[in-house]
Amino acid sequence: MVSRVIPVDDFDLVIFGGTGDLARRKILPGLFRRFHAGQMPSTSRIIGAARSEMDQATYQKEVAGALEEFLPKDARPKDQIDAFLDCIDYVKIDAMGEGGWSELSSKLRSGVVRAFYFSVAPSLFGPLAERLHGHSCAGPKCRIVVEKPFGRDLESAKALNKTLRDHFDEGQIYRIDHYLGKETVQNLMAVRFGNVLFEPLWNAQYVDHVQITVSESVGVEGRGAYYDKSGAMRDMVQNHLMQLLCLTAMEPPSRFDPDAVRDEKLKVIRALDPVDPADIVRGQYTDPKKGRGYLEQVEDPDSITESFIAMKLSVSNWRWAGVPFYLRTGKRMKARYSEIAVVFKDAPHSIFGQDQGRHRNVLTIRLQPNEGMDLFVTIKEPGPGGMRLVDLPLDMTFADALGPEAADVPDAYERLIMDVIRGNQTLFMRGDEVEAAWAWTDPLIEGWTERREKPLPYETGSTGPEEAAMLLHRTGRRWREIRP
Ligand code: BG6
Repeated sequence: MVSRVIPVDDFDLVIFGGTGDLARRKILPGLFRRFHAGQMPSTSRIIGAARSEMDQATYQKEVAGALEEFLPKDARPKDQIDAFLDCIDYVKIDAMGEGGWSELSSKLRSGVVRAFYFSVAPSLFGPLAERLHGHSCAGPKCRIVVEKPFGRDLESAKALNKTLRDHFDEGQIYRIDHYLGKETVQNLMAVRFGNVLFEPLWNAQYVDHVQITVSESVGVEGRGAYYDKSGAMRDMVQNHLMQLLCLTAMEPPSRFDPDAVRDEKLKVIRALDPVDPADIVRGQYTDPKKGRGYLEQVEDPDSITESFIAMKLSVSNWRWAGVPFYLRTGKRMKARYSEIAVVFKDAPHSIFGQDQGRHRNVLTIRLQPNEGMDLFVTIKEPGPGGMRLVDLPLDMTFADALGPEAADVPDAYERLIMDVIRGNQTLFMRGDEVEAAWAWTDPLIEGWTERREKPLPYETGSTGPEEAAMLLHRTGRRWREIRP
């Protein structure tokens, strides 16, 4: 398969927080890959902006170091690295003061796309936005990119939205949720809305339930201070899992364009019922052997923050009435494995008799690792011995089906940054979506905080607390296996 790379327009991209972890780990390597693929024009400029005193050459060296650290050797040919570094510049900037702003302004070119990546603490968003305007850095072709966390509750999200909208139009604000940039997540839309096969079955009449699992093997290592104030609900469910749920449950938009898609996602969030506390299981990992349990990795030894959560949700509308959506996510689990599984109902009548057991069609959409899809179909087990049924997957592992190039898909960040340059907001969250997600999340968090509910312990390397399994067992269902 030959992939088509369409170059984006020439741009200036300023990364506030240009020496930070996200810039080094994701933004700069992602930009290099797009450069190497021929998508980023060689005339484009990437300007790192941070508090440290350094000149252009020193920053270029830092960027080279980050590429070396976060890209495999064969993905960074020297001539390409050198050409990419030519695009890199640096300004020392004072986000709260006036230092560096006129220098930044003088480096920006007119007539090209201007993007400002706010890879800094949310408390700096306001001061940065003000100064961008005050120093004539913002213009009509300008956009800002904002990282999560986008608030920690409805009130703070509203305040953030207001700060940004005081300075920029909604059409200029790109709120990143990197899950939306994942290849398979977009494929979910292609599968649902590009085929005639699934959509007629995609409703309460044929779907028994949906499972969304984002299981991580890493713990909170090094991020304890941030994570302990967030927990799995704020860190993963309010944003990433919510987006997966929206794309699974939304009505077909009339067009694949930003507002049409985001209008439909918003309707899903607004249709979510409050969740009964009995349908929520929160957990915290332990690691007695190595002494690296959650409580050993955060400051508060009595913390009641969850590193795992499983819950049963219902979407109150005609399409989904009565269909449970089970969500679970956790750290230090058995494996890094994420999938959406749409489990269809049993055939209304089995002509093969009771002893053939229960067979169900399941469509699984694997986000990571090994991106792809499986559609489990019931067939006859080959060989003599009568009609024995077995469920087999129609396997659509992208790398197998589309060739090795398909395995080399752009990372979520690089795809999303290119969308920013193209001015396409489809895969970014709109302000009202974020607020609706917090409006649903807040009462749940308030509930368990007021009740001082302790999370249940689960062992590192497990699938979470036993009680999470009970959430499904009570209705005769079970979680799908988390496969390493
Ligand atoms: C981030 C969370 O947004 O997503 C992290 O803050 C989490 O806690 C990460 O580990 C997971 O992203 P991915 O792409 O590795 O699944």
